[in-house]
Amino acid sequence: MPVPHLRVNKLREIIESYDHAAPLENAQTIPASWYTDEQIYALELEAVFAGSWQLVARLDQLQGPGRYVTAEIAGEPIVIVCGSDNVLRGFFNVCRHHAAAVMTELEGTANQLRCPYHGWTYSLEGELKGTPDFGGVCDFDRASTGLHPVEIASWEKWIFARIDRGPGVPPVNPDQTTPQDNHGRDARVTPLENFLGTDLTTQIKALALNGLHWMERRRYSFDCNWKVFVDNYLDGGYHVPYLHKGLNSVLDYSKYMIENGENFCLQWSPIVSIGAETETGAVRKGDRALYYWLYPNFMINHYDGAMDTNLVIPRGINKTEVIFDFYFPDVTDAAERNRNRASIEIGQRIQDEDVSICKSVQRGLKSRAYSTGRLSVRREAGEHLFHHLLYTDLSKAAANS
Ligand code: FES
Ligand SMILES: [Fe+2]
Repeated sequence: MPVPHLRVNKLREIIESYDHAAPLENAQTIPASWYTDEQIYALELEAVFAGSWQLVARLDQLQGPGRYVTAEIAGEPIVIVCGSDNVLRGFFNVCRHHAAAVMTELEGTANQLRCPYHGWTYSLEGELKGTPDFGGVCDFDRASTGLHPVEIASWEKWIFARIDRGPGVPPVNPDQTTPQDNHGRDARVTPLENFLGTDLTTQIKALALNGLHWMERRRYSFDCNWKVFVDNYLDGGYHVPYLHKGLNSVLDYSKYMIENGENFCLQWSPIVSIGAETETGAVRKGDRALYYWLYPNFMINHYDGAMDTNLVIPRGINKTEVIFDFYFPDVTDAAERNRNRASIEIGQRIQDEDVSICKSVQRGLKSRAYSTGRLSVRREAGEHLFHHLLYTDLSKAAANS
């Protein structure tokens, strides 16, 4: 089949045009075509999103039997359910009859999982229970026609899932240390705690997140490839003095630090109060602002008395949705809630400031006048790590295709 062959060769050529071996001082960014090429986008969905642990729910959404949350990984519908036994389970949210989504709300409480199409029902544990008008169907094994399970794992306040091992694969042995799983894929992401690494888990544990409670979710839409948003996040504060004047007034730009881990990057800055812009200064206090990014698409932003997380979801080659969850120490007291809301509004202002620059970058990436750029050694080590990890996943997947 010559045409697919040509396409694969072209894909490999695009991937290998990135010099992954160059140290930061010599590095170029990933090529502009990675942000605009449909084949790269399709490969990313499979190799980067379906192939990694993805945040799918917060634990606070799943307190008690029957609570459920729906999500999507690489376009595939997922549902996480708290069973009658209080155990959390993940399933492909795909009816075994004719593939409709069984649960259609973002979250809720149910005593069984009923498909809206022809009324098939599943228990909270995923077993097929009800099949209206299905008498006389031969060789139909009800017991093996439950919802296909998805591997899930929890960390701190969150549930992560990964779908690339396919339906019905039992959870990975946590002691597994081999570098390849039985699909020949990199097992770097298995299990979740190995992927996170003790460096990151120890740092986040020290923040005592149990003292913070979820208050609000906001969704932002960006007219850019998902990597433009991540690059913007990982530029070590480079754009802050120019684009975010309010935020810049509370950060000590010259002391901004970038620390790379294996699969994560911490950017942090001392917080200053002298000269702080009033509204930002009122809600960004304490010693340090911490910005954690976990490959490929999850961020934890932590300040004294406030935290928000960002989940970056590709919705098309140049469409990105970012889900923000905001957490605070007190989310019940009315006065505190007002203060919290002021903090959320500051976050909103910063996102609004980023929306137009991301769109501008995406347009520029398509220009014949741009192919790659250079990276600031002082600022952009996190972006370099991102590009490197991305290259590793894409080149491996392309070599296997
Ligand atoms: S597709 Fe679910 S019952 Fe038919
Ligand atoms: Fe920004």
